[in-house]
Amino acid sequence: MSKRLEGKVALITGASAGIGRATALLFAAEGAKVVVGARRQAELDELVGEISAAGGRAVALAGDVRSEDYAKALVGQAVQHFGRLDIAFNNAGTLGEGGPSTGVSEAGWADTLAINLTGAFLGAKHQIAQMLENGGGSVIFTSTFVGHTFAFPGVAAYAASKSGLIGLTQALAAEFGPQGVRVNAVLPGAVDTDMYRDMNDTPEARSFVTNLHALKRVARPEELARSVLYLASDDSAFVTGTASLVDGGASITRT
Ligand SMILES: NC(=O)c1ccc[n+]([C@@H]2O[C@H](COP(=O)([O-])OP(=O)(O)OC[C@H]3O[C@@H](n4cnc5c(N)ncnc54)[C@H](OP(=O)(O)O)[C@@H]3O)[C@@H](O)[C@H]2O)c1
Repeated sequence: MSKRLEGKVALITGASAGIGRATALLFAAEGAKVVVGARRQAELDELVGEISAAGGRAVALAGDVRSEDYAKALVGQAVQHFGRLDIAFNNAGTLGEGGPSTGVSEAGWADTLAINLTGAFLGAKHQIAQMLENGGGSVIFTSTFVGHTFAFPGVAAYAASKSGLIGLTQALAAEFGPQGVRVNAVLPGAVDTDMYRDMNDTPEARSFVTNLHALKRVARPEELARSVLYLASDDSAFVTGTASLVDGGASITRT
């Protein structure tokens, strides 16, 4: 069976853990050459080792998505090692400063937006410029159901930054569609990652979150990776500007 990303070059941020790590492994297994980014060098090195051991091609560059230089350097790695860039998964994210919104600091608010929204924009800015040189590509952002189909107290900065990504998705899809660049957002429900476990650190909290979903469970990172693969591959060739829910039915559940 042919691999779905054979010949493609993909860049993935937030690849040191969770959804990004699972997606990097899947993309590489599907034939893509991958550039992986996050702040933790050791985790990235381990991921590159795993991909290489399975016969894939990967390079890592550690850095912080708040930096435009880092956004540029990640694209530079793709071009330097693999000659082009076809797919970019801007997935790095943080819950940021939460709690009662009347107590959220200006710095905490700004930092959450800097990582989740501005970081994703800076990434896309340089990725799209490169993709235009090879006739198009696919950019994917990780948004969330929180702040789009569902809201709960204490996550104002997170919800605002992540729903901002949906507007960004639409604007970039309209701007670069004529040149063959597709831009989509994936909106996960709860996914069993470090972020989920940190936020839901009691059995009661996990049970509450699990019950929000029609499927009465949370997702595995690999299940999100499958949906991202769809948006990255030519299987979604006519899909752009979407806010694609992968939420186990959380948006339609009231029981
Ligand atoms: N888990 C869920 O239930 C859920 C639901 C909806 C959406 N999401 C979104 O999914 C994405 C992935 O999260 P996850 O659940 O897989 O959590 P995770 O395991 O905590 O992964 C977060 C990733 O983002 C990276 N990251 C965070 N801040 C960064 C920064 N300033 N610069 C560079 N990289 C940074 C982290 O790497 P380093 O720490 O090594 O930098 C890590 O690789 C996030 O955008 C999150 O908001 C998650």
